[in-house]
Amino acid sequence: MKYAIVILFSSIQLVLSAQQFTLPNLKFTYAEYEPFIDMKTMEIHHSKHHQTYVTNLNKAVAGSPFENKPLSKVLLNVSNASDVIRNNAGGHYNHTLFWEILTPKTSSQPSELLLKSIEETFGKLDSLKTKMHQACMSRFGSGWAWLIVNEEGKLQVTSTGNQDNPIMDVTTERGIPILGIDVWEHAYYLKHQNKRNDYIYAIWSILDWGVISQKYEDALKDPVLVSIKSDNWPELKAFHKVMSNTFHAAEKKDFKPIFDRNQELMIKAFLLKNSEIPVLALEERLLIMKSLEKLAKQTIELNSFISANKKVTNGVIMKKLTAIHASFHEVMGLCKDE
Ligand SMILES: [Fe+2]
Repeated sequence: MKYAIVILFSSIQLVLSAQQFTLPNLKFTYAEYEPFIDMKTMEIHHSKHHQTYVTNLNKAVAGSPFENKPLSKVLLNVSNASDVIRNNAGGHYNHTLFWEILTPKTSSQPSELLLKSIEETFGKLDSLKTKMHQACMSRFGSGWAWLIVNEEGKLQVTSTGNQDNPIMDVTTERGIPILGIDVWEHAYYLKHQNKRNDYIYAIWSILDWGVISQKYEDALKDPVLVSIKSDNWPELKAFHKVMSNTFHAAEKKDFKPIFDRNQELMIKAFLLKNSEIPVLALEERLLIMKSLEKLAKQTIELNSFISANKKVTNGVIMKKLTAIHASFHEVMGLCKDE
């Protein structure tokens, strides 16, 4: 009996640890957000809506190329993911940030550093408040309003629809969010009904500027910002798409994509080699150029091998493709947080 309990406990632990993403705890009880956010809304929003994003995300990433990848990696490459992953990864990231920046119990002010940056960009804190308010009110339907640190390291107000966010490579105004306001009706409808305006004022009055200020400092040195910048390298993205499609299929013993697209892979590797490298540091640029040279040669070899051999073995193709994949990741590692 004792052993059965131990085995059962271990099995439960195994199932629990297999969950890639988990629902974060709130810093306060649901009731403590009153009167700014009513208890019922908090409970449903956190324990039902957010939990559903987490559950669906775990299900969707299982067996996909995003399995065991950090959430930032999923968001940065979400153009290669299914809509289910896109919506639920966004839902999980956005709500986690939202809970972190709310404090109904204490009042706070932006740090000196953040306030200086707000004043440089918006003039004063009240102007930022007005901009955020406009972003919330002008977002048609469901979505989010954001204060982000953009690719240039500057503050910017933006908004996205549904559960998208500015880290995603499908959005146009990109950066790392340090403040996000949920304007889905599920965030306010029970208390405020259709009065989104009242809800925004309530949220603004419980922002935790201590947390937001820390997020500002963290964002400035976050490797995610480097990744967002390197997305300005369209040739890298184009190669990545073909690489991802052919390599991951081959890993699952499906060699049709690489038979069909090996010439395209070679052409994209050459376009990449001859493109402008958006990395400033000379030492890194030289290393990237070296890896790109190797990558282009490897794609020629693969293309020649497939073209010249009527009876090519999948094992040899996999070996060559793995080498190409490794060279590609050398490049990514030099300009992204791979
Ligand atoms: Fe929400």
